[in-house]
Amino acid sequence: MDDNTTRRRFLQLAGISTLGAVAGLAGCAQNRNNGNTPSSSSSPSTKPDDAADATNATSSSQEAAGKGGSLVLVFSRADENYGVGTVEVGNTMVLAQMIAEKTGADLFEIERVTAYPAGYDDCCNEALDEQHEGARPELKAMPNIAGYDTVFFGFPCWWGDLPMPVYTAIEALDWNDKTISPFNTHAGSGESGMFSTVASKCAGATVTAGLTMSGETAQNNRSEAESQVDSWLESLQ
Ligand SMILES: Cc1cc2nc3c(=O)[nH]c(=O)nc-3n(C[C@H](O)[C@H](O)[C@H](O)COP(=O)(O)O)c2cc1C
Repeated sequence: MDDNTTRRRFLQLAGISTLGAVAGLAGCAQNRNNGNTPSSSSSPSTKPDDAADATNATSSSQEAAGKGGSLVLVFSRADENYGVGTVEVGNTMVLAQMIAEKTGADLFEIERVTAYPAGYDDCCNEALDEQHEGARPELKAMPNIAGYDTVFFGFPCWWGDLPMPVYTAIEALDWNDKTISPFNTHAGSGESGMFSTVASKCAGATVTAGLTMSGETAQNNRSEAESQVDSWLESLQ
């Protein structure tokens, strides 16, 4: 299948025009099967100076698993994305690292065994296929949340829903008596019902108010992102 065919198929599946993919994003993805993903064609290519350092800090380590306290559990994808160009640290990961640093929480990254395509459109196509199949992709490692009271749980909006690897983790874990503080990034769809999904899927957990931020803000306006993270963390006290 050539690129144009792939692109047409993506737009057909999304039920949107190229223009609608960009202009209509804000109102999209309120329904799980009606999420629009925007075109990345106008995205600049940017690589934040601190990206490499940040990537090193996001390895899937859980040094303190079992000791109690807080865990930042996050799914995030680097590479080409909407509105931010090609980045080395994903938008949600930027927030995850801030939260971990500010709270002293451990950080665990949910990663699919097979990495998603680096190209935005290819990734959108593959993610939509997974969503339609109800896939539960295998993860590189399963997080151990047993010893934590609080889980800061972060993910992007993918086609108006949680990325499928997030479901893989959710369904494998025991959420009883956990407090979940969800956060997400997006390109116009907000949290798109994902916080309610987390509340319904994570049986036995208490879910607090969440933090929702555009991916572009998280990636390109760090002071604003930090201010929103601070306010949110304060509200959880
Ligand atoms: C496969 C895919 C699907 C997406 N679907 C949506 C969507 O339905 N609504 C939306 O607002 N943004 C959508 N986006 C944009 C991402 O939610 C946004 O860029 C987010 O900040 C990415 O976070 P990350 O860098 O942590 O992965 C999608 C992006 C990808 C790659």
